[in-house]
Amino acid sequence: MDKKVVIVGCGPGAPDLLTIRGKGAIQEADVVVGSKRLLSDFVKKKYCTTIVLENNYQDIFDEVDRIKEDKKVVFLVSGDPLFHSFGESIIERLGRENCEVIPGVSSFQYLFCKLKESWKAYSIFSLHGAKEIDIEKIFIENNRFILLLDPKHNLKFVKSKIRSIAVRKYTFFVASHLSMPDEKISKISFDDFDKIKEESLSILIVLVHDE
Ligand SMILES: C[S@@+](CC[C@H](N)C(=O)[O-])C[C@H]1O[C@@H](n2cnc3c(N)ncnc32)[C@H](O)[C@@H]1O
Repeated sequence: MDKKVVIVGCGPGAPDLLTIRGKGAIQEADVVVGSKRLLSDFVKKKYCTTIVLENNYQDIFDEVDRIKEDKKVVFLVSGDPLFHSFGESIIERLGRENCEVIPGVSSFQYLFCKLKESWKAYSIFSLHGAKEIDIEKIFIENNRFILLLDPKHNLKFVKSKIRSIAVRKYTFFVASHLSMPDEKISKISFDDFDKIKEESLSILIVLVHDE
Protein backbone atom coordinates (compact mmCIF):
# COMPACT_ATOMS: atom_id res chain seq x y z
CA MET A 1 0.00 0.00 0.00
CA ASP A 2 1.22 3.48 -0.77
CA LYS A 3 -0.10 5.66 2.01
CA LYS A 4 0.97 9.15 2.84
CA VAL A 5 1.19 10.46 6.36
CA VAL A 6 -1.17 13.44 6.53
CA ILE A 7 -0.22 16.53 8.51
CA VAL A 8 -3.34 18.50 9.40
CA GLY A 9 -3.21 22.14 10.46
CA CYS A 10 -5.94 22.46 13.06
CA GLY A 11 -6.11 26.25 13.21
CA PRO A 12 -5.75 28.38 16.33
CA GLY A 13 -8.02 26.26 18.50
CA ALA A 14 -11.73 26.61 17.81
CA PRO A 15 -12.99 23.36 16.26
CA ASP A 16 -15.02 25.20 13.62
CA LEU A 17 -11.83 26.74 12.21
CA LEU A 18 -10.55 23.32 11.12
CA THR A 19 -10.89 22.95 7.33
CA ILE A 20 -13.38 20.46 5.90
CA ARG A 21 -10.46 18.66 4.25
CA GLY A 22 -8.63 18.41 7.58
CA LYS A 23 -11.76 17.08 9.26
CA GLY A 24 -12.12 14.47 6.51
CA ALA A 25 -8.52 13.31 6.97
CA ILE A 26 -9.06 12.88 10.72
CA GLN A 27 -12.26 10.92 10.10
CA GLU A 28 -10.45 8.53 7.77
CA ALA A 29 -7.39 8.05 9.99
CA ASP A 30 -6.43 4.77 11.64
CA VAL A 31 -3.91 6.50 13.89
CA VAL A 32 -3.89 10.15 15.01
CA VAL A 33 -0.83 11.72 16.64
CA GLY A 34 -0.98 15.06 18.44
CA SER A 35 -0.76 16.97 21.69
CA LYS A 36 -3.24 16.08 24.43
CA ARG A 37 -5.16 19.30 23.70
CA LEU A 38 -5.43 18.76 19.95
CA LEU A 39 -6.43 15.09 20.33
CA SER A 40 -9.13 15.92 22.81
CA ASP A 41 -10.50 18.85 20.76
CA PHE A 42 -10.31 17.36 17.27
CA VAL A 43 -10.63 13.57 17.50
CA LYS A 44 -14.20 12.70 18.30
CA LYS A 45 -14.37 9.14 17.00
CA LYS A 46 -13.53 6.28 19.33
CA TYR A 47 -12.33 3.67 16.86
CA CYS A 48 -8.95 5.08 15.87
CA THR A 49 -5.74 4.83 17.84
CA THR A 50 -4.41 8.05 19.32
CA ILE A 51 -0.80 8.74 20.26
CA VAL A 52 -0.01 11.64 22.57
CA LEU A 53 2.89 13.77 21.47
CA GLU A 54 5.04 14.88 24.37
CA ASN A 55 8.80 14.72 24.40
CA ASN A 56 8.71 11.30 22.76
CA TYR A 57 9.27 12.48 19.17
CA GLN A 58 11.90 9.92 18.30
CA ASP A 59 9.81 6.95 19.49
CA ILE A 60 6.78 8.28 17.63
CA PHE A 61 8.67 8.74 14.38
CA ASP A 62 10.04 5.19 14.66
CA GLU A 63 6.55 3.85 15.28
CA VAL A 64 5.05 5.83 12.38
CA ASP A 65 7.84 4.62 10.08
CA ARG A 66 6.89 1.08 11.03
CA ILE A 67 3.12 1.38 10.48
CA LYS A 68 2.79 4.02 7.76
CA GLU A 69 2.53 1.52 4.88
CA ASP A 70 -0.49 -0.22 6.41
CA LYS A 71 -2.26 2.46 8.43
CA LYS A 72 -3.56 5.92 7.64
CA VAL A 73 -1.57 8.11 9.99
CA VAL A 74 -2.53 11.72 10.71
CA PHE A 75 -0.44 14.22 12.67
CA LEU A 76 -2.31 17.15 14.20
CA VAL A 77 -0.47 20.42 14.55
CA SER A 78 -1.76 23.80 15.68
CA GLY A 79 -2.38 26.66 13.26
CA ASP A 80 -0.77 26.11 9.89
CA PRO A 81 1.59 23.12 9.60
CA LEU A 82 4.38 25.05 7.91
CA PHE A 83 4.39 28.22 9.96
CA HIS A 84 6.90 27.86 12.84
CA SER A 85 5.57 24.38 13.37
CA PHE A 86 6.41 20.80 14.21
CA GLY A 87 5.08 20.07 10.69
CA GLU A 88 8.54 20.94 9.33
CA SER A 89 10.22 18.29 11.53
CA ILE A 90 7.67 15.67 10.46
CA ILE A 91 8.41 16.30 6.78
CA GLU A 92 12.15 16.36 7.40
CA ARG A 93 12.05 13.08 9.30
CA LEU A 94 9.53 11.12 7.20
CA GLY A 95 10.41 12.58 3.80
CA ARG A 96 8.46 14.93 1.53
CA GLU A 97 7.36 12.10 -0.72
CA ASN A 98 5.71 10.32 2.23
CA CYS A 99 3.69 13.29 3.48
CA GLU A 100 0.60 15.25 2.52
CA VAL A 101 0.03 18.61 4.19
CA ILE A 102 -3.38 20.14 4.81
CA PRO A 103 -3.14 23.85 5.61
CA GLY A 104 -4.76 25.45 8.63
CA VAL A 105 -5.63 28.95 9.77
CA SER A 106 -2.57 30.34 11.47
CA SER A 107 -2.77 32.04 14.86
CA PHE A 108 -1.45 35.25 13.33
CA GLN A 109 -4.02 35.21 10.47
CA TYR A 110 -6.80 34.78 13.00
CA LEU A 111 -5.37 37.57 15.15
CA PHE A 112 -5.26 40.09 12.31
CA CYS A 113 -8.81 39.19 11.28
CA LYS A 114 -9.90 39.90 14.87
CA LEU A 115 -8.08 43.24 14.74
CA LYS A 116 -9.59 43.90 11.28
CA GLU A 117 -6.18 44.98 10.12
CA SER A 118 -3.97 43.84 7.25
CA TRP A 119 -0.85 41.98 8.34
CA LYS A 120 1.13 42.92 5.25
CA ALA A 121 3.07 45.67 7.05
CA TYR A 122 4.04 43.40 9.94
CA SER A 123 7.11 41.22 10.31
CA ILE A 124 6.62 37.97 12.15
CA PHE A 125 9.07 36.36 14.55
CA SER A 126 8.83 33.36 16.80
CA LEU A 127 10.36 32.89 20.22
CA HIS A 128 8.62 29.53 20.53
CA GLY A 129 11.24 27.03 21.67
CA ALA A 130 13.66 29.88 20.93
CA LYS A 131 17.02 29.24 19.51
CA GLU A 132 19.40 32.17 19.45
CA ILE A 133 17.34 35.20 18.55
CA ASP A 134 18.37 38.82 19.00
CA ILE A 135 15.23 40.43 20.42
CA GLU A 136 16.78 43.84 20.80
CA LYS A 137 17.68 43.86 17.09
CA ILE A 138 14.08 42.97 16.19
CA PHE A 139 12.88 45.97 18.21
CA ILE A 140 15.41 48.30 16.64
CA GLU A 141 14.87 47.22 13.04
CA ASN A 142 11.08 46.85 12.85
CA ASN A 143 8.23 49.30 13.28
CA ARG A 144 5.45 46.74 13.29
CA PHE A 145 5.90 43.15 14.23
CA ILE A 146 4.52 40.22 16.15
CA LEU A 147 6.40 37.82 18.39
CA LEU A 148 5.07 34.33 19.04
CA LEU A 149 5.75 33.69 22.72
CA ASP A 150 5.95 30.48 24.69
CA PRO A 151 5.76 29.78 28.44
CA LYS A 152 9.52 30.21 28.83
CA HIS A 153 10.11 32.89 26.21
CA ASN A 154 7.36 35.09 27.60
CA LEU A 155 6.81 38.80 28.23
CA LYS A 156 9.10 38.76 31.24
CA PHE A 157 11.82 37.25 29.06
CA VAL A 158 11.26 39.85 26.34
CA LYS A 159 11.47 42.66 28.91
CA SER A 160 14.73 41.30 30.21
CA LYS A 161 16.20 41.52 26.70
CA ILE A 162 15.16 45.05 25.73
CA ARG A 163 15.96 47.14 28.76
CA SER A 164 18.40 49.36 26.95
CA ILE A 165 16.17 50.65 24.13
CA ALA A 166 13.64 53.47 24.05
CA VAL A 167 10.61 51.42 24.94
CA ARG A 168 8.24 54.37 25.25
CA LYS A 169 7.83 54.84 21.51
CA TYR A 170 6.14 51.46 21.21
CA THR A 171 2.56 50.34 21.72
CA PHE A 172 2.07 46.76 22.84
CA PHE A 173 -0.86 44.37 22.67
CA VAL A 174 -0.91 40.82 23.91
CA ALA A 175 -3.28 38.23 22.43
CA SER A 176 -3.89 34.95 24.24
CA HIS A 177 -5.85 31.77 23.61
CA LEU A 178 -7.13 33.06 20.28
CA SER A 179 -10.42 31.57 19.09
CA MET A 180 -10.87 29.77 22.41
CA PRO A 181 -13.52 30.57 25.02
CA ASP A 182 -10.97 32.49 27.12
CA GLU A 183 -9.56 34.51 24.20
CA LYS A 184 -8.09 37.83 25.28
CA ILE A 185 -6.55 40.71 23.33
CA SER A 186 -5.41 43.62 25.46
CA LYS A 187 -3.19 46.65 25.38
CA ILE A 188 -0.31 46.39 27.78
CA SER A 189 2.41 48.72 29.02
CA PHE A 190 6.03 47.77 28.96
CA ASP A 191 6.17 48.15 32.74
CA ASP A 192 3.52 45.46 33.10
CA PHE A 193 5.38 42.88 31.01
CA ASP A 194 6.58 41.10 34.15
CA LYS A 195 3.38 41.64 36.13
CA ILE A 196 0.61 40.01 34.11
CA LYS A 197 -0.40 36.36 34.29
CA GLU A 198 1.33 34.54 31.43
CA GLU A 199 -0.77 32.30 29.21
CA SER A 200 0.58 29.24 27.46
CA LEU A 201 -0.50 30.42 23.99
CA SER A 202 0.15 34.06 23.34
CA ILE A 203 1.38 36.56 20.83
CA LEU A 204 2.88 40.00 21.43
CA ILE A 205 2.01 42.72 18.91
CA VAL A 206 4.39 45.64 18.75
CA LEU A 207 4.00 48.89 16.87
CA VAL A 208 5.64 52.26 16.86
CA HIS A 209 2.83 54.73 17.58
CA ASP A 210 4.60 57.99 16.80
CA GLU A 211 5.80 57.19 13.30
C1 LIG B 1 4.89 26.25 17.59
S1 LIG B 1 4.10 27.76 17.27
C2 LIG B 1 2.89 27.19 16.16
C3 LIG B 1 2.30 28.25 15.30
C4 LIG B 1 1.22 27.67 14.42
N1 LIG B 1 1.78 26.77 13.44
C5 LIG B 1 0.40 28.74 13.74
O1 LIG B 1 0.30 28.72 12.49
O2 LIG B 1 -0.18 29.55 14.44
C6 LIG B 1 3.18 27.96 18.74
C7 LIG B 1 2.96 29.43 19.05
O3 LIG B 1 1.94 29.97 18.23
C8 LIG B 1 1.17 30.90 18.97
N2 LIG B 1 -0.21 30.42 19.03
C9 LIG B 1 -0.70 29.29 18.50
N3 LIG B 1 -2.03 29.19 18.72
C10 LIG B 1 -2.37 30.30 19.43
C11 LIG B 1 -3.60 30.79 19.96
N4 LIG B 1 -4.74 30.11 19.83
N5 LIG B 1 -3.59 31.96 20.64
C12 LIG B 1 -2.45 32.66 20.78
N6 LIG B 1 -1.26 32.24 20.29
C13 LIG B 1 -1.22 31.09 19.62
C14 LIG B 1 1.81 30.99 20.35
O4 LIG B 1 2.75 32.03 20.34
C15 LIG B 1 2.47 29.62 20.46
O5 LIG B 1 3.53 29.60 21.41
